[in-house]
Formats: sequence, C-alpha cells, structure tokens
Amino acid sequence: MAIKEQLLQIKEEAKVAIENTSSMHELNDVKATFLGKKSAFNDIMKSMKDLSKEERPIVGKETNLAKRDIQLWIDEKRQTLHDLEVKKQIEEETVDVTMPGKVFHVGTTHLLTQITDEIEDVFIGMGYEVMEGPEIEIDEYNFEKLNLPKNHPARDMQDTFYIDDTLLLRTHTSPVQVRTMLDKGGKEPVKIICPGKVYRRDEDDATHSHQFMQIEGLVVDKDTTMADLKGTLLMIAREMFGQDRDIRLRPSYFPFTEPSVEVDVSCHNCNGKGCHICKHTGWIEVLGAGMVHNNVLEASGYDSSIYQGFAFGVGVERIAMLKYKINDIRQFYTNDIRFNRQFK
Ligand code: DAH
Repeated sequence: MAIKEQLLQIKEEAKVAIENTSSMHELNDVKATFLGKKSAFNDIMKSMKDLSKEERPIVGKETNLAKRDIQLWIDEKRQTLHDLEVKKQIEEETVDVTMPGKVFHVGTTHLLTQITDEIEDVFIGMGYEVMEGPEIEIDEYNFEKLNLPKNHPARDMQDTFYIDDTLLLRTHTSPVQVRTMLDKGGKEPVKIICPGKVYRRDEDDATHSHQFMQIEGLVVDKDTTMADLKGTLLMIAREMFGQDRDIRLRPSYFPFTEPSVEVDVSCHNCNGKGCHICKHTGWIEVLGAGMVHNNVLEASGYDSSIYQGFAFGVGVERIAMLKYKINDIRQFYTNDIRFNRQFK
C-alpha cells in the first residue's frame, strides 16, 4: 500500500476511535495507540530509509500533518469530555430544596446555669464583681473566720464532709466572703457575688441533695446600712419572681450576721392569696441575709468601727424549683435530657 493511503487509513481509524471514546481514560489510550512510541507512524518513519531522496521530505511532511490532525481531534474530544463531566457534576450536586432536612439537636445550658447567669447579669449591672472560690476549703474560712469557732453548736446547721482536720468540702459559698476581704486587705470597699457548688452530708431525697448551688452576696463599705440590704433583696426577689413581688424580713440567726434575717417573698403563684406552694401563707422563704457580724469583719482585717457590711446567701435549686414548680431536687443532677430540654 502506498504510504499516502496508509496515512489516510491511520487517520480514518484514529478519527473513529477518538469519536467512540466516552472517557478521558479511553481517550488517553487512543492517544497512546496513535501517537505513542509504538504507533503506526513509527513504522512509517522506519520505512523512510527505503524511499528516494525526493520522496522522503514529502512523506515526512504528510506524516506530520496527519499526526497534527489527530492531535487536534484528541484536543477537541478532550474539551468535549471535560464539558460533559462538569455538566454531570453540576447536575449531581443540585440541591433539592424540597427535600426534608436533617434535624440537629442543639443543646441548652442547664437551668441552674441559666438562673445563675441571670442573677449575675443583674448584679454586674449594679457594679458588683463576680468572684469564685475553691470547693475544697479550709475549716478556717468555711467556719472559723465566719464566727463559727470549733465546737460551736451552730456548726450542726451544716453537716460537713471533712477531708481531714483542716480541709473540707465547703458547706456554703460564705467562705468566699472571707477570701475576698482578706484579698482586699481591710482597706477597700467590697461589692461581690459568688456563685458556686456547695456540699452537705445529707441523704438525697426530693428536697435534699449532697451537692447544690448557692449565690453569695457581700457588700462592705463605710456607710452600708440595713436599708441598703433591704433594697437589694427586694430587687433580687423581683428579678427572680417578677416585678409585682414584695418581701418581708423575719428575724433569724446566722453566726456570721447580726442582725440576721430570713427573707420571704410574696407568693408568685397565688399573688399572696395563699396556695399549696406557699403553704397557704402567701409568703415563701427564699434566702438568708443580714448585716455582717463585727467578728467576721475583724477576722478578715476590716475595722468594724469604720466598716459595715451586708451579706446574703441564696440557694439556686430552691429558686428554680419554686419558679418552675419542680418537685424533686434530684431532677437537676440526673441529667435526663427530657428535663433539661424543657428549659431552652
Ligand atoms: N451561708 C448560709 C447557708 O448556707 C446562707 C447565708 C445566710 C449566707 C446569711 C449569708 C448570710 O451571707 O448573710 O445557710
């Protein structure tokens, strides 16, 4: 067969092969067959030596032209295949906006955290600092410097987990009062709240938990009075139970305050008329408070002839239970997700 016809035949075969490819992979194979090292063109180049001087350049040129055409077709086909692939990909990635979505369950902060955060916000707004103290505390700060020396009968009010003679799990957040006053060195005024966990050796039941949360408040300055305490307590009561609430103070006893008061808030459930929540009295006991005892001020470096202070302590679970009519304190600690989800 004349070389010219041979070239035409190769081109024709290549054209068909290229047209029949349906993937880049196949196209690469076709390219290797027709333009690679072992292609039919190579056989033609080898047989050039048998040609006359005049024929050689002509055949060489024809061969190159044929190769160039094949390369062109391959390039065109490559572009076509590429466009098809992109189109297919776009089709596959189309979002069907009518499909039902996946449901993601977003968690929520714990109810106790929510209440603590709310109360913190109110006090921060009034210029209070938020302090924290350790849950493992020394006897000296948990009791002694709060006017509760060893063997004081009032220690029985708080059944204590002792670690050894000097270390214990704090039974209230009041030791943070001591820590803060000592820090301030008996000179600066103090205006703090301290939220945190506390521990008592109680049997767990619907109203007792060996671990619970308190928020302590302490203000010490040169002209702090019982009126300041009362105003502050009224504000907390309204913040927690609504702006229509009233408070009343009843005389009480805490070793670290003198005078001490128990604070009642008018019942948010019946508006003071009497219901099962307020045990038909119209009032609910919510927290303890008082004017800081001189011994407590002095024990932490404050001159009680110059400084006075007030303090209060609130149980966070109790507030939450009253507000949301929760009848078992253990609900806060068993982490039943159905309980937690109710307070989103
Ligand atoms: N620490 C007391 C308790 O846990 C609560 C308390 C009462 C704190 C009166 C105070 C206070 O700061 O003034 O029972």
